[in-house]
Amino acid sequence: MFDYKLAVRAACGAALSLLFVRAVPLLREVIPERMYAAVPGAIAYLHVDAPEAAKANGVVSAEEWSSIYPEITASMKANADNNYRISYLDEDPFLKNIYEGYGFAIDYTSAVGHSYTLEDVHKTERPHPLANCLTCKSPDFTKLVNDLGDEVYMYDFEETWQKLDESISCYNCHANQAGNAGELVVTHTYLSDAFGEETGKVDPVVLSCGQCHIEYYFRPENKATASPVHGLDSVTPEAALAYYNEIDFTDWV
Ligand code: HEC
Ligand code: HEC
Repeated sequence: MFDYKLAVRAACGAALSLLFVRAVPLLREVIPERMYAAVPGAIAYLHVDAPEAAKANGVVSAEEWSSIYPEITASMKANADNNYRISYLDEDPFLKNIYEGYGFAIDYTSAVGHSYTLEDVHKTERPHPLANCLTCKSPDFTKLVNDLGDEVYMYDFEETWQKLDESISCYNCHANQAGNAGELVVTHTYLSDAFGEETGKVDPVVLSCGQCHIEYYFRPENKATASPVHGLDSVTPEAALAYYNEIDFTDWV
């Protein structure tokens, strides 16, 4: 027997889905772009060419990306709100004894947002004669290393710092590929050296932060930034210590 109820329900369902399919594009035309840009799958600009870099080093700055990705740029700049600093040495005076002879006994201030890296690295009272301290501070330094190689780590700190244009920015995590649907690129190559063939097994989002938030040391022979990590199984404090013992490395004695 013909089931009227089922037929009516099916017809209504079809009409509703048709309406939905028709309505979404129509709504897109009437709702301002910024109101739906954050809905998953609705990002309007998935593949765009990078803007022309004004800087001679070829790094496209956040300012230059901002006309294409205003929300993402604003969100990155909101890092500046994270500006609460305390001195750990004032909070816990015994640290001065524990760290005696080490830079952190002189100045150990809490971390703040990415917007402050260039300012903070300059004003810390910890001794920092060489440019290797700039490894995790600016895309312009990362680009310099990528262009000229490890020798850059031994450059004079002050002279190099003067030439850096912006604190951590799009290039650090995307190279100039942000327009390629936010493609993530490891620009700090000591990280891909550390994981070697296993780099591809690590979530790119994790890698992007791990470029700087990872245990590191400066190679004694050329002061280049490196990590004790050597493969996925070695990301433990025990493995790092074993590695340092093996190469007879000490940060300070
Ligand atoms: C510290 C690293 C980092 C910086 C700096 C950074 N991004 Fe990203 N970006 C990411 C990560 C990680 C993702 C992927 C998020 C995910 O998949 O959950 C991403 C995603 C994106 C996407 C894709 C968004 C989407 O919804 O598909 C775009 C576009 C993008 N970033 C542009 C930029 C621009 C432009 C800048 C500079 C103003 C910037 N990013 C700075 C790490 C960064
Ligand atoms: C290019 C290097 C670099 C990359 C990449 C990076 N960071 Fe950072 N991050 C830093 C540095 C350096 C600081 C300390 C800045 C300061 O105190 O001036 C910092 C500070 C922070 C802080 C503030 C800590 C606090 O106590 O307030 C957070 C949170 C943070 N990073 C999270 C992330 C996340 C999440 C990612 C990945 C999406 C990431 N970082 C990628 C270098 C980096």
